[in-house]
Amino acid sequence: MKIDILTLFPEFFESPLSCGLMGKAMEKGILKVSAIDIRKFSPDGYVDDKPFGGGSGMVLKVQPIYEAVKSVLTDESEVIVLTPRGERLNQKIVKELSAKKHLILVCGRYEGIDERVNVLFKTRQISVGDFVLSGGEAAAFVLTEAVSRLLPGFVGNPESVNDESFNEDGVAEYPQYTRPKQFMGHNVPDVLLSGNHRKIAEYRNAQKRKVKL
Ligand SMILES: C[S@@+](CC[C@H](N)C(=O)[O-])C[C@H]1O[C@@H](n2cnc3c(N)ncnc32)[C@H](O)[C@@H]1O
Repeated sequence: MKIDILTLFPEFFESPLSCGLMGKAMEKGILKVSAIDIRKFSPDGYVDDKPFGGGSGMVLKVQPIYEAVKSVLTDESEVIVLTPRGERLNQKIVKELSAKKHLILVCGRYEGIDERVNVLFKTRQISVGDFVLSGGEAAAFVLTEAVSRLLPGFVGNPESVNDESFNEDGVAEYPQYTRPKQFMGHNVPDVLLSGNHRKIAEYRNAQKRKVKL
């Protein structure tokens, strides 16, 4: 899979893209993520302007984003704009996106981006939650990591992505324990040490958390 992230701050992604499983996946060629500087597509270096109709702050101009998207767009691209106005990201959407060949993620800043970007590219607008970030970069990385870990070969043991939170709608995984059996007076639940697989499965099932969707 290829993911192109359009941003005013490409340096934001340097560290998270290079460490842990994400770094390994890039090395192995499972995915290619590039951060592309929107500013390079502005003829005069200006990327923002005052909102028509008045109001506070600045809006990212349509032209530099249009050119930036065009520079990487193919027939296989899905263009996604990160915005608090979008549909709320969840594991179902993550799974859907992990089947795509190419994602283009557009990160807003300031008051957001000119709406005509959404119209011109029939974008999918996605929010990472009902709160406001200063920019789309953190949201784009959340989406990138969630999607990437579903790609074949990303995690060492494929079982670990089959058996985890939200594979069942609205259900988060049971709590986990490892050695030692006792710590500061707190014991690992007996059932997990019993070796009885049926009872362990029942216990874990009962410990799963229902999450309000
Ligand atoms: C300060 S925010 C703009 C907020 C906008 N004026 C509003 O009131 O909805 C700047 C950028 O951060 C990103 N952003 C902020 N919160 C987000 C969220 N919850 N999900 C996805 N992106 C978000 C978007 O790209 C947005 O264009």
